[in-house]
Amino acid sequence: MPSLKSQIETSEIVVGLDIGTTKVSAVVGEVDADGISILGVGNVPCRGLRKGVVSNIDWTTRSIAEAVESAQTIAGVEIRTVYAGVSGSHIRCQQSDGVAAISGREVTPQDVERVLEGARAIPIDADRQILHVLPHEFIVDNQDGIRDPVGMSGVRLGVRVNLVTAACSPVQNVVRCAERCGLTVADVVLEPLASAGACLSEDEKEIGVAVIDIGGGTTDVLLFVDGGIGHVSVIPVGGNNVTADIAAGLRTPMGEAERLKRNWGCALGRMVAEDDEIGGPGVGGHPARTVPRRLLGDIIEPRVGEIFAVIRARLEETGLLEQLSAGAVLTGGGVLMEGMSEFAEEILGMPVRLGLPVGVRGITQLVAGPQFATGVGLVQYGATALAGARVREASAAPATVEAEPVAEPAAEGKRRPGARLIGWLRAAF
Ligand SMILES: Nc1ncnc2c1ncn2[C@@H]1O[C@H](COP(=O)(O)OP(=O)(O)OP(=O)(O)O)[C@@H](O)[C@H]1O
Ligand SMILES: [Mg+2]
Repeated sequence: MPSLKSQIETSEIVVGLDIGTTKVSAVVGEVDADGISILGVGNVPCRGLRKGVVSNIDWTTRSIAEAVESAQTIAGVEIRTVYAGVSGSHIRCQQSDGVAAISGREVTPQDVERVLEGARAIPIDADRQILHVLPHEFIVDNQDGIRDPVGMSGVRLGVRVNLVTAACSPVQNVVRCAERCGLTVADVVLEPLASAGACLSEDEKEIGVAVIDIGGGTTDVLLFVDGGIGHVSVIPVGGNNVTADIAAGLRTPMGEAERLKRNWGCALGRMVAEDDEIGGPGVGGHPARTVPRRLLGDIIEPRVGEIFAVIRARLEETGLLEQLSAGAVLTGGGVLMEGMSEFAEEILGMPVRLGLPVGVRGITQLVAGPQFATGVGLVQYGATALAGARVREASAAPATVEAEPVAEPAAEGKRRPGARLIGWLRAAF
């Protein structure tokens, strides 16, 4: 096995594949000891999904192939392996506990793996699979609320986790589409988990925050409380519902309704001036016409209000509303419409900010919008997974490996690249 140092010194390419209801984005990142550099992005429309779930394998495969091709051209690298996103209302989240004996010695990373294995050993339906085991807190003997138990002493290590499960078939379809393009899927990742990783700060996670990713077909809600994931759910509504309402209300084709929404849409009717007018096309041979912008707002507002009301109800159901001291972070392409955060603040009754992907270098302008939060988050997830694998390799390898305790503070000049990589990844998530 190559040494930790040699592995980390060679930068690695990590690709996030966000297969969304309206578009496929392939985000290419280069990971080295200093972090992630965005090298390129391929972004193409996709009509192969309904409400976050693949409904047409051929169309989805074609969009993935195009997105990957375009990302390869821009980044100048060959893409073989991807971290793919998955979403849809089949996603569920449930709590579970695990316990492992440690007999008075220090907790090792292997103990942590063991206790997490125990927490995932619960019966689930045959047609479902576990996507993630997300630790909420560790407990060493009677001390709870521990984030990282490695190095602590005790006789008993416990963990409380959130298990994210998904129906097998939508996950398999995502993998199948990617494989049809000749890609290997390194892991399948819950999309809002990726989005949260890309746009939340450590402080927000610590004091409690809701990430709300409003895409085309789904609205994903993920809550952080006490620094851990408290809840995940996927609501099958999104920006496409707004577009469909505009198409029906103005009797115009979906494509035109989408254009009107993007150019003149406003979530709050009262933010639009009375005399604002927009040009609309003629339909079915009728001549082109002008529409008051207010009318568009009057169509959009009830639908967006309904989406935020459903989110509010979902937050109340979790019983965690009071713990969201940092409020909500809105991301996903659906939040690009004017007035979204103001409207959200009114209905959710908490501070709201827009969440853009952060924490990456390179050609960041390619991934600057909220619609790229998932794609960038997938790259960050992949980079963390890679770093975790390096740590495990290092701790499993014989003494010749130049590993050092990751958490040990070291002078910057003496620090090895591996420790730095883990350091910033820990800070990033
Ligand atoms: N400038 C804009 N103004 C208003 N809405 C916009 C704008 N740009 C994108 N959208 C909307 O954002 C939605 C797409 O967002 P996003 O790209 O995050 O979705 P997706 O990832 O394809 O779908 P999902 O996550 O639901 O599977 C569409 O409904 C689109 O109309
Ligand atoms: Mg999305």
